[in-house]
Amino acid sequence: MPRTAKSGRLDFILRGWGYASKKETERLVKEKRVTVNGISAEKTSFYISPADIVEIDGEILTPRPFIYYAMNKPKGFSCVNGDIRYPYVTSLIKDDAAVNTLFCVGRLDVDTEGLLIITNDGGLTNALIHPVKEIPKKYYVEYDKPLCENAQEKAKIGLCHTDGTSYKPAEIEILSEYSAYITVSEGKYHEVKRIIGALQSKVTYLKRLSIGNLSLPADLEPGEYRLLTDDETDILYDLQYIYKLVVSKIVFI
Ligand code: URA
Repeated sequence: MPRTAKSGRLDFILRGWGYASKKETERLVKEKRVTVNGISAEKTSFYISPADIVEIDGEILTPRPFIYYAMNKPKGFSCVNGDIRYPYVTSLIKDDAAVNTLFCVGRLDVDTEGLLIITNDGGLTNALIHPVKEIPKKYYVEYDKPLCENAQEKAKIGLCHTDGTSYKPAEIEILSEYSAYITVSEGKYHEVKRIIGALQSKVTYLKRLSIGNLSLPADLEPGEYRLLTDDETDILYDLQYIYKLVVSKIVFI
């Protein structure tokens, strides 16, 4: 079932229909090029209802479904729009006129590979990245030396970075002396790198394999992407309802 922005702020609607990013909407409004029911929109926060007729430069806009891509994010690309050091990861998406309206659901570091969801559905994104949801994200990780003693137990209780940031329990499945699967649930800044750091090793390679029960499509090489199927989009939507806040314990090492 296609999902569409039906009502909300003007900038949310124009982005969700694939016509303009938030910044572009600001400019269009300033230039008085947007009308709602024939009257010039004064603010990007103007509330749009399903019955309203929205026009840009006199062209009536039609609601279009949200866009959802799965990408195997390659190294060297940033998930931050406006990062001057690295190209924005959405620049890899070709042949999509609505590319300017797209953004990432959460962030992967520049040197991290793997599953990245790219969309223009702001409501879903906010729901998915909220830390109280504790949506598990599974990574394959390699590090420079074996993890410290009882690493799995320590990670399972919850670790703390030297700057005081605490991390909820993480599940580690050791694959070899230098590699493991690790599942975390918060999406905090450098979460996996810092948990591995607290276990006295340094990450040398990191790749996200799944978000909840949505896995990186096996056929996507780094830099490749494809639209999510309807079933995959349903999985993504369900994630926001499945995961709930759980209380965790923190251990200092
Ligand atoms: N944890 C990290 O440290 N980096 C990422 O990119 C994702 C999770």
